[in-house]
Amino acid sequence: MKTIIAITGASGAVYAKHLFDCLCKNGAELHLIITENAKGILKDETGIDEGYFKRKNVSIYENSNLNVKIASGSFRFDGMVVIPASMGTLGRIANGYSNNLISRVADVALKERRKLIIVPRETPLNYIHLKNMLTLSRAGAVILPASPAFYHKPKDIDDIARFITARILNQLDIDNDLIPPYAEKD
Ligand SMILES: Cc1cc2nc3c(=O)[nH]c(=O)nc-3n(C[C@H](O)[C@H](O)[C@H](O)COP(=O)(O)O)c2cc1C
Repeated sequence: MKTIIAITGASGAVYAKHLFDCLCKNGAELHLIITENAKGILKDETGIDEGYFKRKNVSIYENSNLNVKIASGSFRFDGMVVIPASMGTLGRIANGYSNNLISRVADVALKERRKLIIVPRETPLNYIHLKNMLTLSRAGAVILPASPAFYHKPKDIDDIARFITARILNQLDIDNDLIPPYAEKD
């Protein structure tokens, strides 16, 4: 399984770390892009830096470098997850800017009809955010808001992140038992 993870400068870096850990455990080949804005937020919110992601199954790219294999439609991958997705990056993808690696690879994912999962984090949402999300959904992306449920009674932040990771793994067709299925009440 080849997956691209793009971490952008929105709050919610823990979601990216949790997804990364799960995909690593699953033996995925990972291609990781972290924006400059995301690096500071990652450190601030989770205490980890880019070094955390350096593993033998992981290739890491600069967002400013378009001269890499993943920027081409000839590089085949199973899915791309933008997590958390800032409204800035979401807007660039929705409008086809392709002026950095994340927006270019997302553009490729859409044109090649590959799975593109966008995990937006902002609240409240303005007209432009909503319009961009609708555009992306119509273009074939999955909009999967960082909007955890609470019926599984999360005990900590990791439990909250687990819910979002489970939803993303479902979208990537990866079996998982991170969250028990919703059980009907008597
Ligand atoms: C501490 C911090 C938290 C932020 N949280 C968010 C957020 O939750 N959602 C968002 O859309 N932008 C957020 N921003 C603003 C983005 O980082 C900013 O728009 C940036 O240009 C996004 O660029 P990037 O997508 O290339 O990382 C935050 C910025 C900072 C400094």
